[in-house]
Amino acid sequence: CGIMGYIGTQESQNIIMNGLKKLEYRGYDSVGVAVNNGDSIQTNKAEGRFENLQNLLNESPLQGTVGIGHTRWATHGRPSDENSHPHTDTKKDFAIVHNGIIENYLEVKKELEDQGVVFQSETDSEVVAHLLSSLYDGDVVSTIKKAVQRLEGAYALGIVTEHDPNKLFAIRHDSPLIVGKGECENLISSDIPAVLEHTRDVYILEDGELAILTEDEVKLLDIQTDEPVNREIFRVDWDMEQAEKNGYDHFMLKEIHEQPKALQTTMAGRVDAENHQVQFEELNWTPEQLNKWNKIYIVACGTAYHAGLIGKGVIEELTRTPVEVEIASEFRYRRPIVDENTLVMVVSQSGETADTLAALRESQKKGANVLAITNVVGSSIAREADQVILTMAGPEIAVASTKAYTTQVLSFYMVGIYMAQIKETISSQEQKTLIDTLVQTPDQMEGILEHVKGLQWYAESIQNSDHVFFIGRGMDYAVSLEGSLKLKEISYIHSEAYAAGELKHGTLALIEEGTPVIALNTQEELYDKMLGNIKELKARGAQVLGLAMEGNLNIWQYVDETCYIPATQSLFTPLLSVVPLQLISYYTALGLGNDVDKPRNLAKSVTVE
Ligand code: G6P
Repeated sequence: CGIMGYIGTQESQNIIMNGLKKLEYRGYDSVGVAVNNGDSIQTNKAEGRFENLQNLLNESPLQGTVGIGHTRWATHGRPSDENSHPHTDTKKDFAIVHNGIIENYLEVKKELEDQGVVFQSETDSEVVAHLLSSLYDGDVVSTIKKAVQRLEGAYALGIVTEHDPNKLFAIRHDSPLIVGKGECENLISSDIPAVLEHTRDVYILEDGELAILTEDEVKLLDIQTDEPVNREIFRVDWDMEQAEKNGYDHFMLKEIHEQPKALQTTMAGRVDAENHQVQFEELNWTPEQLNKWNKIYIVACGTAYHAGLIGKGVIEELTRTPVEVEIASEFRYRRPIVDENTLVMVVSQSGETADTLAALRESQKKGANVLAITNVVGSSIAREADQVILTMAGPEIAVASTKAYTTQVLSFYMVGIYMAQIKETISSQEQKTLIDTLVQTPDQMEGILEHVKGLQWYAESIQNSDHVFFIGRGMDYAVSLEGSLKLKEISYIHSEAYAAGELKHGTLALIEEGTPVIALNTQEELYDKMLGNIKELKARGAQVLGLAMEGNLNIWQYVDETCYIPATQSLFTPLLSVVPLQLISYYTALGLGNDVDKPRNLAKSVTVE
């Protein structure tokens, strides 16, 4: 979900709506605004996309210079007008917007219902508005304090109230929230892009901090101790242009095309092509430190998890250290065997994914050193990790991740080589070849992006299929998982990825005449084995697209369609082979008329468990 709030000299409604538009990647099931005009709080909210509410507001605008707004990704309660935020108490003295999950809401709701409160929605969030109203003691700050003491779970809250109409309140616990400090206006938001039109000066709130905003002042308080918090201003040095579409039809297509540049920027200052070395000033690892870590975990969700699978392959291959890759929501609840001799690497584009953040905290509690690979400076994960590698992909807006994934994968190549250098598990000749190969990847990727026609045709041929299968071995299997996720996320076609050797143990039963299969065959040592698997599929009627490296041209004899990527070392093919898969997904979804950048039911940043 996304939160936006404004207090200043201008009408707040449109400023809030503009900000919410920038936060749509956080959810877009429904949108709502509440404005305090000094006499009363007016709300308007609607299920569905942004435009629905904008039309309502155009017909009857809400007037007032203080307000809050919300774009929702449904958790408790289906998307509907009633379940949309802001929520108010019965008297409409308080209006709130909430991001997170109130875990004990049923218990609090029951107490309030016993006092006669009638609830309007099925959400967990509504309890906050009624709780504030029932606990009101003449002082808003002390009321908020009492209310949050009753709440369990995660929340970022924006609050406006009749009792103090010239203030805007915001509090954070385990859900991201920032304050934008402007000239005669101040703002709150879940994320920086929403306030950039107004200011580049932001405060990034920490857990347990309450922000009290007036038109010309921002006060931060520690909610437990009531002590003022002195936070330095964080000055944002990138601009919204980087996040605009730049002539592309969709953010996803733009971001796919930005990958070569994103790789170069992420390598800059880290990969020294002349001396054939990787440097990480931000890590500065010593042999003692590396030898102390006898176990490495990579923990992440979604696409970032798939990047982690490549990371495992790279680190194990280059350093011969065992690596386990885990889905964050599983890892955190299964008492992972982690201690001070463990290195935990968490991977997250947004740096805010609740499960990944929880895994980080759990690991630190057990004494592990946590390295974060993330794309967002100042995100919760970036701030809390012991060490951080920033992927320099720039803002990623499309829900389906592309350039964040490839820069995460690149980070694993760099870390793998860096570790191997320190541990001396590779020879200097091997090191030279690895670096030479790595630095040529952006140009090779550019080459793939120049020839997309064939992929467009292929996408058209699968768009009416019920199922698509992806198969591969080794690194190709990890990339298959990502290709399959991309396709299902935006085309809504059912797809599965399988380790090619595992097909015959069950999945082969699903193959019928004409079933589309995308077979990745880029791993030199496994090339012939894969051809065997492709023959098994062809014998059952599958329609196979073979994806191979240039130089392995004989694949065409075994498949129906071919797609070639430039020749490279088998270890590095993921950075290249994923690109045609991203494009196939894009063009398939496009052909189906889907909302490519905002697929149904999903959100880019999932800050709830
Ligand atoms: C959401 C997004 C996915 C993403 C995952 C992890 O589910 O829709 O695209 O891979 O979260 O996000 P993160 O920001 O932690 O990489």
